[in-house]
Amino acid sequence: MSDLTAVGITAGYDGPPVLDKVSVNAEAHTTTVILGPNGAGKSTLAKAIVGLLTIREGTVTLLGENITGMGPHKLVRRGLAYLPQLMNIFDQMSVIENLEMGGYTIQGSLNQRVDTVFELFPDLAKDRHKKSGELSGGQQRMLALARLLMTDPKVAILDEPTAGLSPLYAERVWEQIDRIRGLGVGLLVVEQNASIAMDHADSVFLLAQGRNVTSGPTAEVRGRDEVARILVG
Ligand SMILES: Nc1ncnc2c1ncn2[C@@H]1O[C@H](COP(=O)(O)OP(=O)(O)OP(=O)(O)O)[C@@H](O)[C@H]1O
Ligand SMILES: [Mg+2]
Repeated sequence: MSDLTAVGITAGYDGPPVLDKVSVNAEAHTTTVILGPNGAGKSTLAKAIVGLLTIREGTVTLLGENITGMGPHKLVRRGLAYLPQLMNIFDQMSVIENLEMGGYTIQGSLNQRVDTVFELFPDLAKDRHKKSGELSGGQQRMLALARLLMTDPKVAILDEPTAGLSPLYAERVWEQIDRIRGLGVGLLVVEQNASIAMDHADSVFLLAQGRNVTSGPTAEVRGRDEVARILVG
C-alpha cells in the first residue's frame, strides 16, 4: 500500500458530484503530479483528501490508517500537509515569524526546525527578519512552501505551487520540490504546466471531467496520445 492512497473518491459541492470515483496515490521519496485541464477536479480532489470537503464515496489512507473524513488539523499532526491553491502568508509578520506559526504542531524544538528549514531555503534565511509582504512574489511562494515543511510532513499535497510565477521562478520552486523529495517526503503536486511537471515528477495522474484518464510512471505516460489530446486541447 502507498503512503497516501485515495481510492474511488466521489465528492463535490452542492449538486451533483464533481469527482466520480477518482483514485490517486503517493509514496515517500517520490513526486507524483496530478495533471488535467481547468475544472478537471484537481483542487476538489486535494480538498477532499485533506478533509475540507465531504467524501461521499471512497477511502483515503495515510501510512496504512484510514483517514477518510478527518479534518486538516488532525491530518497535519499525522504527517499530511496541504498547500492550498490560493495560499496565504502573514504579510505583516517577518519570515521567521511565519515559520514559527507554521510549526505550531511540532513537539520538539521550534528553533531547531526553523534552522533545518532555513538550510533548505538559504535565500529565506538571509531575509529572516524582513516583513513577508516585502518579499517578491516568488520568495513569498518559497516561504509558503518553507512554512509547510515546518510541520515535518510525511506526505505533502501542493496545489499549483508555481501558479503565476515566471518560468524561471517556477523552475526554482520545482528544484525546491526536488530537494523536499530528497528528504523523504512524498509529494502530490497539482500543476498546470505539464511540461515542467513531467520534467520533475516520478509519476503522473491525468484527470479530466472528474475522472481518472490515465496514470503511471512519467516516462510511460508522457508519450500517450490522450495526454497530448487532453492537455494540449
Ligand atoms: N466552491 C465551489 N463550489 C461549487 N463548485 C465548485 C467550487 N469549486 C470548484 N467548483 C467546480 O468544481 C469543478 C472542478 O473544479 P476544481 O477547482 O476542482 O478544478 P481544477 O482541476 O482544480 O481546475 P483549475 O486548474 O482551474 O484549478 C468545476 O466545475 C468547478 O466549477
Ligand atoms: Mg485547481
